[in-house]
Amino acid sequence: MKLKAMYSFLNADLQLVEKELEAAMQSDYSLLSEAALHLLQAGGKRIRPVLVLLAGKFGDYDIERIKHVAVALELIHMASLVHDDVIDDAEMRRGRPTIKAKWSNRFAMYTGDYIFARSLELMSRLDNPLAHRILARTIVEVCRGEIEQIKDKYRFDQKLRSYLRRIRRKTALLIAVSCQLGAIAANAPQEVADRLYLFGYYVGMSFQITDDILDFVGTEEQLGKPAGSDLLQGNVTLPALFAMEDRHVKEKIVSVHPHTPASEMSDIISRIKETGAIEKSYALSDRYLQKAFAVLETLPKNKARSTLYNVAKYIGKRKF
Ligand code: IPE
Ligand code: IPE
Ligand code: MG
Ligand code: MG
Ligand code: MG
Repeated sequence: MKLKAMYSFLNADLQLVEKELEAAMQSDYSLLSEAALHLLQAGGKRIRPVLVLLAGKFGDYDIERIKHVAVALELIHMASLVHDDVIDDAEMRRGRPTIKAKWSNRFAMYTGDYIFARSLELMSRLDNPLAHRILARTIVEVCRGEIEQIKDKYRFDQKLRSYLRRIRRKTALLIAVSCQLGAIAANAPQEVADRLYLFGYYVGMSFQITDDILDFVGTEEQLGKPAGSDLLQGNVTLPALFAMEDRHVKEKIVSVHPHTPASEMSDIISRIKETGAIEKSYALSDRYLQKAFAVLETLPKNKARSTLYNVAKYIGKRKF
């Protein structure tokens, strides 16, 4: 089943979210709106808003209230992507040139800041100090995750634990908080909000591990950007960590530097694949997914719960 078909009952609400997202991109400074819309209109899976709305179904669902949360979460995600592409020196995103490539790094930094600030502005429509505290802390953690990644570049001796800590911060927490805040905005019982947070956390870990695998095995067409750039840029992700358990492959991996020729890179990537590191990474991704499913079992049984199950399952198998 296609991702969108799983939650067609949310179509009207998601369209409303989309309209609000577009409105949020407006600015008196037209170049800023142009850049923000450039990224928005390129698409994207909108996983975080979908999770916000589904989590809201566990409480007193009011789209007029919860839409602000859904929009704010997608904006934080988008802002972090704009900055991430500066950090990763990425040329393509969602099948289009990145903001940093089309304009400049400096302009991308401002556009990212602008989108971040807009997200806070929208969240402020929600009269709930707890929600604001959670969101602020999450933004801090995402930044810490990205900064740690810069610090750990080309550090081939890092432990699995630092990788997991990094992806928790840069990706999993935002997905966890999407679920938690959806529940909070709908005044769901705290117990339910806590469990949804945990569900989102496990899904988020699985999601980033899959993203890191896809960087090794995906095609440019699937990903909307060239594959294989993580390792070249010194971003040591799970498949590389597992592959380095093989002494010979490790020797190859630690020799990587920003100017390693493409032919050499493709040889190293083949060697990595031969070690079974991809399968091992998928297995860990799946372990997180199983934990997510186990948490779901403890939640009230309803349509949102079965949809969360399907969305999570899809994320584990995603190819883009
Ligand atoms: C990309 O997130 C960045 C990661 C956290 C892995 P998504 O894969 O959700 O990106 P879009 O929004 O669909 O483009
Ligand atoms: C995404 O990690 C991290 C954040 C969104 C903060 P990646 O750097 O792996 O994301 P992609 O692969 O560029 O989408
Ligand atoms: Mg990155
Ligand atoms: Mg990136
Ligand atoms: Mg990636």
